Parts: sequence; C-alpha cells; structure tokens
Amino acid sequence: MPRGTEDETASVTLLSPSSSGSGTDANTSSRSSALKPGYQTALASSGQRSPISRPHERQLVLVVEDDVAIGALLETLLNRAGYRTLLTTDGEAGLSAIARANPDLVLLDVGLPRMDGFEVVRRLRSDPHSQILPVIMLTAHSRTDDVVTGLDAGADDFLSKPFQHAELLARIRSALRLRNALVRMESAHAAVAALANAVEAKDSLTERHCQRLANMALRLGAKLGLGHAELEPIAYGALLHDVGKIGVPEAILTKPAALDADERELMRQHPEIGARICAPLAGSAAFAPIVRHHHERWDGSGYPDGLRGERIPLGARIVGLVDAFDAMTHDRPYRRGRDLEEAVAEAKGQAGRQFDPDLVPVLIGELEHDGIDLDEDVPTGSLLPAV
Ligand SMILES: [Fe+2]
Repeated sequence: MPRGTEDETASVTLLSPSSSGSGTDANTSSRSSALKPGYQTALASSGQRSPISRPHERQLVLVVEDDVAIGALLETLLNRAGYRTLLTTDGEAGLSAIARANPDLVLLDVGLPRMDGFEVVRRLRSDPHSQILPVIMLTAHSRTDDVVTGLDAGADDFLSKPFQHAELLARIRSALRLRNALVRMESAHAAVAALANAVEAKDSLTERHCQRLANMALRLGAKLGLGHAELEPIAYGALLHDVGKIGVPEAILTKPAALDADERELMRQHPEIGARICAPLAGSAAFAPIVRHHHERWDGSGYPDGLRGERIPLGARIVGLVDAFDAMTHDRPYRRGRDLEEAVAEAKGQAGRQFDPDLVPVLIGELEHDGIDLDEDVPTGSLLPAV
C-alpha cells in the first residue's frame, strides 16, 4: 500500500464559536423579581448566547418600547408567563442591553427615539453574535410598508398594537423554538470544527489537507449524481476522516522516515478511534462509517474491517480515493509529492485493487476535463450540514 494513504494529517479552518459583546446602558432597567444577584454581571462576561446553555434559568426577553405604559404592560404579561424581562426605551439603549445581557428574544417597537426599530434589527443581523437572536417587531399600525421593511431588515415576526396577549405569547414561543433549533445546529457545527482543528493542532505538516479532501470528495459525489442529503455526510466524513490521529503519538505522525511495524500498527488504529470520537455527534450515524472505513480497500485488504467492494460505504470509497490521491500529490516529510500524471497512473493501476474501479475514471475525468484545483480552499462552513 502506498505509504501516503495512511499517514497524512489534516487541516481545517477554524469556525469561530459564538461570543457576546459587552456594554453598559444607563437606560436599561431590570424589573424581574426573579433576577438572581450577580446574574447580569455573569451574563455580561459569559459570552453565552444559547438558551440551552442555561436550562434552569427562565428565559430573558428584552422589551424595547418607548411608551412606558405599553412597556409596563408587556413586562407584566411576560413575567406572568414565566419570562424574565428587561426594558429599554430607545434603540441605542436596546443594542447596548443586547450586548450586555444576552437576551433570548427581543420585542422591538418600530418607532423609537435615537434609533428606530428597523435600524436596530439591521444592526443585529449584521453582527454574527446576534444573527439568530429572535426579534419580534411591534408597531402601532398594521401598515404593510412597516411589515415589509421590518421583515426585510431581518425581523422574525411582526405584531400590531393593540395585540392579543395569547397571540403575542404564542409568537414568542414559536420564535424561541426556532432559535433553540438553530442553536443546537450551531453547537453541532462548532463541535465538528473543534474536532477538525484538534487534528490540525496535532500536526500541521499537511495543512489544508482536509479542506482539499472535502472539496474533491464533494465534486466527485456531485459528479456521481448524489443529492444534498448524501453529500452532507461526505463533507463531514472528509473533514473528520483522520480525527482519530488525536490518539496517535505525535512522534509517529511527524516521523520523517518509514514507520516500523509497531508504529504502523498504532497508526492503523486511527479510523476506529476516529469513529468512536465522532459517535456522540449529532448525525454521526451517516458520517462515522466514512471515518471508520476510509482505509478499506476494494480488494478487501484494507483496514480496520477488511471490507470488500461495495460493502465499503460509498462515502468511504470516495473519501478513501481522494485521500490517497491528495496524499500522493503533496509532499510529506519523508518524500516529495508525485506529479499529476504519475498520480493518475498510480490511481489507474490501483483501480479494482485499492480503489473502486468505477470511481477512478470519474476522478480522472474531473481532473482532465473540468479541472480540480488541488490547492483550492473549500468553504468549510457552508459544507456543514444541519444536524
Ligand atoms: Fe486516514
């Protein structure tokens, strides 16, 4: 087996975890009797935005309303419904309160002093920290223009005053359910990115290997006619295929010479380790088999399970092929990468032995006709599926 198929390491661009800004706002008042001592300070410094990160706390709704009577009515209604509340009376104060107090939802009046509701929601949506913060806009009139402007600015919902209490609370529950789903999705993506980065941190010698791999695997999958649902796990599998190398000693990963038998045995454990690492992740049933089986060979001589032919999951056959091809064409500490022609000849020679014989011509066809930029970065974030 070519050495390069089992010793390459990985590199994936960091996806930044969410964090919250900070600020102060003298115009903000807390009226919730349930607000725990020190809670606002803790929120201001925690960087947490997720309602599921504080499951035992009542959810916090920020009311931005310049009409004092309506603001008080909303706070009373929300407190009775079990929410904690903060009240601000103008747009700029509202933005400061959001940065400081990290609310779960915002009720935002349209006509506000200093900065109107439309501008507030535009600014929230342009800030990555508040892009999924639910915002329900309130207006005194059911003007179609306001509704269109508000929704275009990024509001999640719109409600006209006077409003039915039950309807307001139902819309709040609905917006919070959607936000919770988005937060769970974001957490899953962050976990995948963290794992992929852990591999890179272990050995950066083959920087961007996983990005190239994901790019090539997706192009190959698309060429085969796979749909979005099948391509998503391939993206995950490609990004995480070598995550098990976290469990392999660094001296082995970076050894500038051929591995001895014991070292090779340790290296060969990385697909199983990787599959176990991925198991707790949402959606892993679809992509952990790619991680486990990316070193299987079409003729059954691969590892860890010696699967043969089509018993190897298609995603693992794709990732295995592009992984080996990428390793062949890039330098390693102990050898120079082969040129493209040489690598293509090697891939053809291994069709039906190491590689799925139906996949090799597809890869070569992509290389020869459409061209694959072997150094092209893949937009990692956009690959990550909703899990
Ligand atoms: Fe591997």
